[in-house]
This record gives sequence, structure tokens and C-alpha cells, in this order.
Amino acid sequence: MSKKAMTVLLSAGLVFSSLPSAVLADPPPAGSPADQAFDNKVVKKISADRLFERVRDLSQSPREAGTQGEWQAVQYIKEQFESYGYQTELQPFTFQEWESGQPSISINDTPFTGGIHTFYGSINQNVEAPLYDAGLAGPEDVTDEADGKIALIERGGYSFYEKIQNAIDHGAVGVIMYNREGASGHTFGYTYDGQKIPAAAISREEGLKLAERIKEEPLTANLAIQGAGTVDKTSYNVIATMKAHKNKDTGQIVTIGAHHDSVADGPGANDDASGVSGVLELAEIMAKTPTDTELRFMTFGAEEKGLVGSYHYADSLSEPEAGRISAHFQMDMIGSRDSGDLIMFTPDGNKNLVTDLGAAAGARVAEVVEYGQLGRSDHVPFFERGIPSALFIHAPLEPWYHSPEDTLDKISREKLKETTEIVGAAVYQIARPDTPALENARVAPGPVHYEFDDRPL
Ligand code: BES
Ligand code: ZN
Repeated sequence: MSKKAMTVLLSAGLVFSSLPSAVLADPPPAGSPADQAFDNKVVKKISADRLFERVRDLSQSPREAGTQGEWQAVQYIKEQFESYGYQTELQPFTFQEWESGQPSISINDTPFTGGIHTFYGSINQNVEAPLYDAGLAGPEDVTDEADGKIALIERGGYSFYEKIQNAIDHGAVGVIMYNREGASGHTFGYTYDGQKIPAAAISREEGLKLAERIKEEPLTANLAIQGAGTVDKTSYNVIATMKAHKNKDTGQIVTIGAHHDSVADGPGANDDASGVSGVLELAEIMAKTPTDTELRFMTFGAEEKGLVGSYHYADSLSEPEAGRISAHFQMDMIGSRDSGDLIMFTPDGNKNLVTDLGAAAGARVAEVVEYGQLGRSDHVPFFERGIPSALFIHAPLEPWYHSPEDTLDKISREKLKETTEIVGAAVYQIARPDTPALENARVAPGPVHYEFDDRPL
């Protein structure tokens, strides 16, 4: 931990066990006016309206990584940063995406008209063979009767790997899988290295119809997969930097991030236009607030493709640069009116500098914020580089995340504002130029207790 980071914790009374009690005498109770005054420079300026309007601007349509929708969002974010006076960098990177190609199915020479998705990793091949009902394709379900046939499989119960391997081991020449009970759509499925078979996914409704028909009459299926494969796509991180005040520079860096990409078919108002708006709001406010710490505001691309943008950013840091980053704050899904309370997640489930600062800021601004264990967002690559980091999110989650229903009408101005205030107050606590001098001051906030919380997602 850097000397400045340690000093900040001391002044916040967070490392109180090692301090003489005189230093901690009479801290004001959490949430008192003195506590709030301490944060006013940042907190008072945060605007719920501005936060909401940016979510509106960003959530007009999907922003899937590598698409025009993402590019428009990237331009918007860059223009916003620049309008606040920041030098802004676009950091491009490539990632691999699976393309379904042109899959087709026909049954007894009649073309299948439902949606078809090529399994990730499927081979390109055209096969024609009797259709065989393999049920769930568990070890007991598939027999040698599958030999030379196309297996019709219901999703669920076993892994994709097991199901497909059982079909291959019994001589099947193709796989058509329909969705599991309760699941809609047909976009799913993986084959693994060495499973050289054409495989496609269809909806549950269509699959059940075929399973019924097979009981009545023998069916011949044609399964043709062509043009499927991985393609390289480009996505971007957007990075705006505010240098420390010249005479006060501690050499320390704090990063504040969110991801701007969404899933393919959702406008991602909460996931994660909300977090992007929080990052932009803090950038706008901090642009006019001198600090002794360099602040880097960033939005990541291709988070939904496997944290690709944040891994790219973290991997691009030199050792000395990574060593200068004292804290990473990640905001992801911070504005749903239908989710639970704010929580701070760390990948290892341990407290760190970020959760300590977040809990202390929470107590001053609103309430104590608990912590828990979760990866699944862009704090992970920072954590893996040894940088204290945490994800600020509300849990339990709203049920429609990753769906077309993740829209602006379900966004709460209050949730956006409160979360951004807490993150802003926590960032400012470490970045404010007067922190060491506050060590003994009566306005310095008192210690807070916050606990591990394993609430469901
Ligand atoms: N905003 C979510 C994070 C999330 C999802 C947290 C569900 C908790 C529960 C994020 O955008 C996301 O969907 N992450 C991916 C991770 C991945 C692609 C590595 C996920 O969780 O599926
Ligand atoms: Zn997200």
C-alpha cells in the first residue's frame, strides 16, 4: 500500500486498532452534518438529472461490442469527456467472435422455418440422416441406435460437452438441440475441441414439435452448416485522464470504470449505461476539483464478451504504472429501481482499500455498504494485477438484466445519484489534496464497521 493510501485510511479512522486513542477522540457519528460537509465539494454537485439524461442518450439501442451501436456510444463518451476538458484516448483492441454463418435444417425435405443458431465451435458440414430422439443425451439416454443419425437433444441436465460426446461416442453424425424448460430463444450451445460434428440450436417450442412427430413417423433431417467460424472484431476502451495538481502530485493514480458495451439484443440501460453515466458525472465534477492524485476515468468495451477490454487495459500497464494505481472503482448496474441495496464485491471476498473507502463514504452519505465476493465484471483484471479494486452494484439484481427489457423506464434517479455520490466521496477521500493534514482534524470522519454479506444475486 502506498504511503498516501495508508495515510488516507488513518485519517478515516479505518486502521484504528494501531492508533493511539487520542487521535480518534470524539469522531462525529456517521451521517452527521460534519461528515456530510466533509464530502460536499463533490457530493453536492452530483446531479440526478444529468445522470438520468446520459442513460437516456446511451440506451436508445444495443451497444454490442464490435458493432456500430458500440461505436456510436464510444463517440458519445469521448465527446462528453472532451466537453469537460479532458484529453481522451481511444484504446482499440480485437477480440474473437463466433459467427453462426448460414445454418439450415430441413425435415423430410421441408425447410425448417424457425430460428437456427450454430453452436460455437461447430464444424461446417452438410449431413442428411434419420433424426434420432436422444432425450437429454445423458449416459443412459443415448444408445447405439444413434449410429449414423442426427441426434435431437433437449438442453438441460448435463453439460453441452457430455451431451455431444455421448452422441459422438454412439456414432451420431449431427446434433440439433432445443432449449431447456423455461428458456426462450435459440441462441446457445458450445462444442469443445475435438468434438468434430455439425451442431445447431433451435427453440424449445420447435424442438418439442419435432420430438412429438418422431414418435408418430420416422423423420429424415438435413442439417447444413456453412460459413460458421470465428472472426476478429474491434472494440475500444475510452480513457480520460486528469493529472494531479502540479505542486501536490503524490505520484498515485486512482481509476474509475464502467463498461459501455451491452448484450446483443438489449439496450443495457442499467447494464451498464448506468455505470458509464456515473463515470462521466464524476469526470465532469472532478475536472474542476484539484487533487494530489491522478484520476483516470475509463469505460471498457467487450465486457460482455469476457471482460476483454478491461483485461486489455490492465495487461497494457507497465509494472511501475500498475504499482502507482492505488485503487480501482468499478460501477456496473447502479441504477435499477427494481434491484436491492448497494454492495461492494471483490473477487476474493476480502476487504481492501476500495471497500474501506466505499463503506466509510457510504456511512457519511447514506448508509453503511456491505461487501461480498463476486468477479463477473471489470474489477477482476485490476485485482489480478494486484490493484485493490471493487465492483459497486445493487443486489439482488433485477430479473431482466441482459434482456430487451433493460430499459430507461426502469432506471431510478435516486439509485444513480446515491451510488455515484458514494463512489465520488470515496474517490475524493483518497484524491483530495488536504488528506494528510486532516489526520487529526475534527472534521475527519470516524471509523465504520461493515460486514461480509452473501446475499443472493
Ligand atoms: N453486469 C454484469 C455483472 C453481473 C451479472 C454481476 C450477473 C452479477 C450477476 C456483467 O455485465 C456481466 O454480465 N458479466 C458477465 C461476465 C462475463 C462475460 C465474464 C456474466 O456475469 O455473465
Ligand atoms: Zn455489466
